Amino acid sequence: MNPFRKVGVRLSLAVAAVVLGALAVVWIALVPTLERRLVNGKIAQLTQSARALEREAAAAGVDEDFVDYAAHATGARVVYLIPITGASQTTMLVNADSLHLGLSNDVVKDPLALRASSTGKLARGRVSRDGTSYAEVAVPDKNGNILLFSSSLRDTLANDNLVSTRLLWAGLIALAFAVIVGYGASSAFARRIRRLEHAAERIAGGDFSEPVVDPRRDELGELARAFDRMRLQLAQLDDARRAFIANASHELRTPIFSLGGFLELLQHEDLDEATQREFLVTMSEQVQRLSKLATDLLDLSRLDAGRVRLELEALPLADAAGDLSSEFAAVAQRQEHPLDVVVEEPGVATADRERVLQIGRALIDNALVHTPPGTPVRIVVRGPELAVEDDGPGIPADESEHVFARFTRLPGTRASGTGLGLAIARELAELMGGELRLESEPGRTVFTLALPAAVGEPEPEPAAVHA
Ligand SMILES: Nc1ncnc2c1ncn2[C@@H]1O[C@H](COP(=O)(O)OP(=O)(O)OP(=O)(O)O)[C@@H](O)[C@H]1O
Ligand SMILES: [Mg+2]
Repeated sequence: MNPFRKVGVRLSLAVAAVVLGALAVVWIALVPTLERRLVNGKIAQLTQSARALEREAAAAGVDEDFVDYAAHATGARVVYLIPITGASQTTMLVNADSLHLGLSNDVVKDPLALRASSTGKLARGRVSRDGTSYAEVAVPDKNGNILLFSSSLRDTLANDNLVSTRLLWAGLIALAFAVIVGYGASSAFARRIRRLEHAAERIAGGDFSEPVVDPRRDELGELARAFDRMRLQLAQLDDARRAFIANASHELRTPIFSLGGFLELLQHEDLDEATQREFLVTMSEQVQRLSKLATDLLDLSRLDAGRVRLELEALPLADAAGDLSSEFAAVAQRQEHPLDVVVEEPGVATADRERVLQIGRALIDNALVHTPPGTPVRIVVRGPELAVEDDGPGIPADESEHVFARFTRLPGTRASGTGLGLAIARELAELMGGELRLESEPGRTVFTLALPAAVGEPEPEPAAVHA
C-alpha cells in the first residue's frame, strides 16, 4: 500500500503541518519584533544619557577628559566631531575619541553625525560599520559641533539570536515529539480499524463464529459492539435460513415421494377400479397439500422480501366473519363441528379484506383440524377484533409463543399440516398494524386478530349469523 494512504502517516503529517504552522506564526510574530524592541530600547537608553551629557558638555566644554568621562558613564564610544563645510560637501574632523585610536576615520562620514550637523537637531538610529551594527545618537552642541555616542549592538543581537535559536530548537523538538506521538497514536487506531475490517470481511464471507471484540469505550469500541450485534443477528438469520430450507425441502419431499409411490403402483400393478379410485383420492390430497405448501412458501418469501402489497379499506368485521362462516360451512358440517358467528360488538377495521380472510381461514382451519369432532367453533367479532374460539384440548402455556414459529407442529398433531399457517397469519396481522394473540387453557382456545379501528366509519347493526 502507498505509505501516504495510511491513516497513521497521514495523521502524523497533519500533526507535523499544524506544529510547523504554529512555529512559523510564533517566529514571524516574535523574532523581528523582539529584535526591533531590543535595538529601540538600546537607542532610547542611549538618547536619554546623551541628552543629560549634552547639558554637562554645554556647561564644562568638551575635551579628551570629557569624552572619556561620557564613555565611562554611557558604556558607549563617544566621539566629538567638528564639521567642516567645504564647497561641495561637509566632512567631519575628529576632535576627541574615547577610543583613542589615533585614526578615527571610521566615524568621519557617520550618517547620523552628518544629519545632526545639517539639521542642528539630535539624530539617532542604527548604523552598520565594518560589518558590525551600532546604536547611535548624534547631538549638536551650541557651536554646531557633534557629540556622537556609538554603542555596539553585538550583545543585544546575540541575545536576540539566542532567543531565536532556542525557539527553533524548542520547535524542532515539539515537531519530532508531535510526529512520534501522532504516528504512534494513529497507528494504534489504524490497527483497531484493520481488526474491524478483517472482522467485516470474515462476516461477509459467512463466518459468524468469531466475536468482534474491542473493549475500549470510544467510538471505535462502539462500532465494534455494533458489528458484533450485526454478527449475532446475521448468524441468527443464517440459522433461520438454513432451517427454513431444510424444513421446506423435507415438507416438499414427503408428498412428492408419496405421489411417486402411488404412480408406480398405478403403472405396474393390476388394480381394481375401487383401489384405483382410492389411490387417486389420496393422490389428489397430496397434490392439494403440495399446492398449499407452494402458496405458503411463496407468501413467506414475499413477507420476507417486504413485497406483500396491502389494499387497506374500512372493513366491517361482521361481514368478514359471515364470509368465513359460509366458506367453511360445508367442511365444518362434514367434520361435525358446529360453526357459529357471534357479533358481541360490531366493529370496522382498517385492513386488507383478502388478508383478513386469509388469517381467518388459517385460524378456522386450525380450530376444525386440531380439535376433536363435535366440539363447537365460534367466530367472534369484538369491535376491531376478530376471534376464533374452540373447545378443543388447548395449547400448553409454554408452547404459546412457539406455535407462531415457522414449521411448528405440536406433538400429537395431525401430520397433514406444515406448521406455517400461524406464522404467516401473525406476520400478515403485524403487516396491517395489528396483532395475533393466543389465550388457551384445556377445553378452550382463543386466537384473536386485533386490527387498527377505522376512524369515522359508521358501525353496522349487530347481527348474529349462524352457519
Ligand atoms: N386451535 C388449536 N388447538 C390446538 N392446537 C392448535 C390450534 N391451532 C394450532 N395448534 C397447534 O399449533 C401448530 C401450528 O399451527 P399452524 O396453523 O401454524 O400449523 P398447522 O396447522 O400444523 O399447519 P398448516 O401450515 O397447514 O396450517 C399446529 O400444528 C397445532 O399443533
Ligand atoms: Mg394450521
